[in-house]
Amino acid sequence: ESGKLWGGRFVGSVDPIMEKFNSSIAYDRNLWAADVQGSKAYSRGLQKAGLLTTAEMDQILHGLDKVAEEWAQGSFKVHPNDEDIHTANERRLKELIGETAGKLHTGRSRNDQVVTDLRLWMRQTCSSLSALLRELIRSMVDRAEVERDVLFPGYTHLQRAQPIRWSHWILSHAVALTRDSERLLEVQKRINVLPLGSGAIAGNPLGVDRELLRAELNFAAITVNSMDATSERDFVAEFLFWASLCMTHLSRMAEDLILYGTKEFSFVQLSDAYSTGSSLMPQKKNPDSLELIRSKAGRVFGRCAGLLMTLKGLPSTYNKDLQEDKEAVFEVADTMSAVLQVATGGALCPSQIHRENMARALSPDMLATDLAYYLVRKGMPFRQAHEASGKAVFAAETKGVALNQLSLQELQTISPLFSADVSHVWDYGHSVEQYGALGGTARSSVDWQISQVRALLRAQ
Ligand code: ARG
Repeated sequence: ESGKLWGGRFVGSVDPIMEKFNSSIAYDRNLWAADVQGSKAYSRGLQKAGLLTTAEMDQILHGLDKVAEEWAQGSFKVHPNDEDIHTANERRLKELIGETAGKLHTGRSRNDQVVTDLRLWMRQTCSSLSALLRELIRSMVDRAEVERDVLFPGYTHLQRAQPIRWSHWILSHAVALTRDSERLLEVQKRINVLPLGSGAIAGNPLGVDRELLRAELNFAAITVNSMDATSERDFVAEFLFWASLCMTHLSRMAEDLILYGTKEFSFVQLSDAYSTGSSLMPQKKNPDSLELIRSKAGRVFGRCAGLLMTLKGLPSTYNKDLQEDKEAVFEVADTMSAVLQVATGGALCPSQIHRENMARALSPDMLATDLAYYLVRKGMPFRQAHEASGKAVFAAETKGVALNQLSLQELQTISPLFSADVSHVWDYGHSVEQYGALGGTARSSVDWQISQVRALLRAQ
């Protein structure tokens, strides 16, 4: 006996080079618990269909519990012949309970088995990732609430644009992450469908009740077509895309903080616990945690693109190419878990913000838009007001003074609508408070954003 699940029609043994190439146990051992869980449910299905006696089922269930115990305790010994986790668990089951073990795979294929295992594993992993992501969002919102009276420059094109609340910036990233959180729930819905009972391609001929399997494994639904069920990996692609988009958001936020942490900006200071030093330059404190968050995005995108390449052009149903899905899922799940924990732990929440530097970085030219709105409020059409404010900017630049240093007389040569109350324009606090429409940077609006994000988190 070759120890293979498929030895019957083969003569001689597999070349050791091929053996190694074909083997997936090095990584799909991650699925051990899911594999045992799926097999236990399947043996119940076999018993109900009359293919196992109750005694045989009990023997198998106890054997599988023993297998799980060995994995949990780290005493499970993987044999060189164990091609994958399914082979390994069945081999061990047979050692433990004898020939009855050979009945477990009745009507089942590794094709429906592996995709069931993967869905079980991903279902659980997605719940943990979802909790980590929500924790990160929650910590960002808490911070936004505490620091909502801090003002700093908002940038477009990395050029000073308009004064905004620091919390408005935090929330801009938190809000993007709430969509990732929602998206993950959607992906989970499509993961939570049971393929077991699909066989290799054609279905199950032995009367196994898939509804029973579904209930045993607590899936929300059963797959509709056995060919689709055994070969489709769109739920994997969706998970990898979810991760890619989430990493895009985390990476952009990290990039902002890397910039804001430079001496040139000096808006934030990353905590020592999330920074590292230089082996040569004693003064250095480098934002390695943020840089790694930024770079891990590339790794995740690569896995997503890689899987899509693998799927594209595959002929119908199971092909061994599909074995490649697992390393992508495991690596991305590990990366996301690490990134989210580092982000929440401190990387994305700088230990200190330098309010004075933020305030100092605000300049009157950032109020040029407000100067135009001042004229609009006096009845001037916006296009003309924009032109007039632009002229004021030009006049100040030509004179070499700040925009708010132009005298009332100088402003009045640009438009007679300017009067003494124009001085109110040069107040940054007053500026941000104008942006009271929902979603804007006024305090009331930032408070509304906080309550919106909190409500979303509660609803999830
Ligand atoms: N290790 C395989 C995988 O990960 C299990 C399925 C093997 N099926 C087969 N027909 N060779 O995809």
